[in-house]
Amino acid sequence: MARLLLGVSGGIAAYKSLEFARLATLAGHGVRVLMTPNAERFVGAASFEGIVGAPVLTSEFERDPMRGAFPGEPEEGGHDPIGHLELVANCDAFLVAPASANTVAKLAGGFADSMLTTSFLACTAPRLIAPAMNDRMYADAATQANLATLRERGVEVIEPDEGPLASRGEHGRGRLPDPERLLAAVEALLAGEASRPAAGETAAIETALPDLDAGPEQPDTGTDPLPPGEPGPWDGMRVIVTAGGTREPIDAVRFIGNRSSGRMGMALAAAAARRGAEVTLVAANVALPEPAGVKRIDVETTGELAHETIERFETQHVLLMAAAPADFRTEPVTGKIKRQDSLNLNLQPTEDILAAIAVQKGDNQTVVGFAAEHGGEAIDRARAKLTRKGADMIVLNDVSDPRIGFESVENEVTLVTAADEELVPRASKDAVADAILDRVDRLRAAPQSTI
Ligand code: CTP
Repeated sequence: MARLLLGVSGGIAAYKSLEFARLATLAGHGVRVLMTPNAERFVGAASFEGIVGAPVLTSEFERDPMRGAFPGEPEEGGHDPIGHLELVANCDAFLVAPASANTVAKLAGGFADSMLTTSFLACTAPRLIAPAMNDRMYADAATQANLATLRERGVEVIEPDEGPLASRGEHGRGRLPDPERLLAAVEALLAGEASRPAAGETAAIETALPDLDAGPEQPDTGTDPLPPGEPGPWDGMRVIVTAGGTREPIDAVRFIGNRSSGRMGMALAAAAARRGAEVTLVAANVALPEPAGVKRIDVETTGELAHETIERFETQHVLLMAAAPADFRTEPVTGKIKRQDSLNLNLQPTEDILAAIAVQKGDNQTVVGFAAEHGGEAIDRARAKLTRKGADMIVLNDVSDPRIGFESVENEVTLVTAADEELVPRASKDAVADAILDRVDRLRAAPQSTI
């Protein structure tokens, strides 16, 4: 995935950056951390080092023991580079979170008095800052002018949330957003960069992503790059994966949609590609970069998702239907509907893509559906769905658990087949994707017992 530089400045919200570093690392990114001297008064460098597996740097005069490399990459031997220049040259994005009022002012003024500020100045990769401070400091004209200056220079400012502040009894705008939102903002920016290649260059993200086809798979972790040229266990297999959530337009600006981020589908596409399969990804409104070697088709509505998926299914061995299609559509109004006392939408059900595909599947084809169910009797409902839709397996997500599903980088699922149920305990979406593919392997080895 990507190489992220995380700058942490001095503020109480620095504790949330630890969680950001954990989530980003779990999601497969290589993270290096730069702290201002004041940040170390709030959280310890040792905590970041333990999470990301690389030394933290504070002073611009410090020697980087990793010589500008990111976790998981080989270190350059021999030459001892200038720390801040090497790190920013290697990173795909630089996020400062939290960005205190003092650090925002320094960045806007072009100061270079610490490893963080010096690196920020030298960084040509996409830069984001997440200001977090007391609401009066945030609202002050000086801070707002500094943020406006940074925005003008192309820095993405992730707006702080409104809510209770660290100072007792105070409430206002100034809270650092949740780490999940910070990661989504970084990934969305990277995805945007990836789809916007500069003249004469390939997209920035392509250089950031490891070649996931570059070797055989390791079923247990599924994440390690392996030697090139080795055959994978899914060589010759064709897999179609759907991801994200469809949107049904209501008028020129509004739509019916859902919260699916597409992360699970992306992890499945990456896992299948690692096994050597030829993977087609049909992505509905997904703001994440696709894994290397995967063919991506972008769609918006359930109708488009149905068209692109059904048309291709005949030639595929496996369908992993991880997308969350909107179940209803309406005839969109031209222009923008004006505010009014009430609005009735005539909602019509959309096509059930999974059911339509399952009825036409051949002996050598495996169809996997996903079900997001809420709380008790979830397994019974998933089993009913398995039969109703004619799928070979339903991957059940209990969305009543806030730690998993939707925007989270972790998941916990139960794999429901006609033969049995298997719990895949809470783990990264990459690890869960591998467990799903392992179960598909076993289903395909004994199709008569489950179809
Ligand atoms: N699905 C589909 N077409 C739709 C809706 C859902 O192919 N129009 C697929 C999803 O991609 C998923 C599976 O069906 O793999 C189950 O989705 P879910 O939303 O749980 O099923 P619904 O049929 O919408 O059932 P309900 O909302 O009644 O739970």
